[in-house]
Amino acid sequence: MVYIGTAEASPNMPFVKYWGKRNEALILPMNSNISATFDSSLATRTTVFFSESLKADELWINGKQFPPESLDKAIPQLNIIRELAGIQMFAKIYSISKVPVAAGLSSSSAGLCALALASASALGLKLPAEELSIICRRGSGSSCRSIYGGFVEWVRGDKTDGSDSYGVQIADDKHWPELRMLAVSIEETEKKVKSRAGMKQTVLTSTLYQKRLQDIGNTLDSVRNAIRNKNFQSLAELTMKESNNMHAVCMDTWPPILYLNDNSRTVIQSIHDFNEGGLRAAYTFDAGPNPYIITEEKNLKSVLELLKKMSFIKHIFISKIGGNPRVLEEHLLNEKGKPV
Ligand code: DP6
Repeated sequence: MVYIGTAEASPNMPFVKYWGKRNEALILPMNSNISATFDSSLATRTTVFFSESLKADELWINGKQFPPESLDKAIPQLNIIRELAGIQMFAKIYSISKVPVAAGLSSSSAGLCALALASASALGLKLPAEELSIICRRGSGSSCRSIYGGFVEWVRGDKTDGSDSYGVQIADDKHWPELRMLAVSIEETEKKVKSRAGMKQTVLTSTLYQKRLQDIGNTLDSVRNAIRNKNFQSLAELTMKESNNMHAVCMDTWPPILYLNDNSRTVIQSIHDFNEGGLRAAYTFDAGPNPYIITEEKNLKSVLELLKKMSFIKHIFISKIGGNPRVLEEHLLNEKGKPV
């Protein structure tokens, strides 16, 4: 007996960051956080194949098998799904990512969301979106926001079991058609401090982090309003300040975590220079040196002209606000678990 399921999901870009956990094992965040989902041009498509013939779980990305330690975020998800379905078979995870892994734009949020949806579909589990989002979260926190397109808030929740901590849609992909999100690759090597280890160290050592948590309720209210009112100027300012705050807190962590490099700082300065007559673009950085830029369609050409002057930029992926992830009938593997 084999079970196969396939799904496609896109990564997301946070306006308000998830940085710090209140429960490591259940992946529960210290604060609610808000993102928008990229469109399908940046999506990851994943087929999950459960079979008694497999001797261990396997992960394949873009045709290449990854070592067992690369499955550390996938296995908690697979175990939840296996338990719900009452099976013990191992799984082969076979993913095709539209963004080259080498671009250094970590798309684990897309990969783990596609995995949760594909494995639930393979085993015929009909789960509500909240439960699917929680399964995504148990793999990697940020992936619980990719369960919806449009603008999504990962609500922190209060319960100790995490049953009220999942992604909720604020507005769908039709809400703000003029908005553009750019994923810019300036460095392709792996980051030295992974976000999981980095955020843990911040919670343990940064005193500035307490101030961040005190202020974040107001930031969340303002970001929700800026999204609802499609107020670009407000969203742009809040996004940049929020990114700078996360990286200030990283600097205040001991030992300090330095994700930004000289090229990242050149992008920051250039966007501020570009914005002198009024806010037309904003940057934000996750746990690495590669910027995301937001702008509106009317200013996209000038933003691209600005970025093209920076010779250190390797790739620019341009996206609209994307729709919901999808379960697909067409699989990447056949009944024998071989690529089709
Ligand atoms: C900086 O979701 O990768 O991108 O839950 O430990 O797997 P784990 O962390 P992850 O952290 C992402 C942090 C961030 C900010 C964000 O996406 O909100």
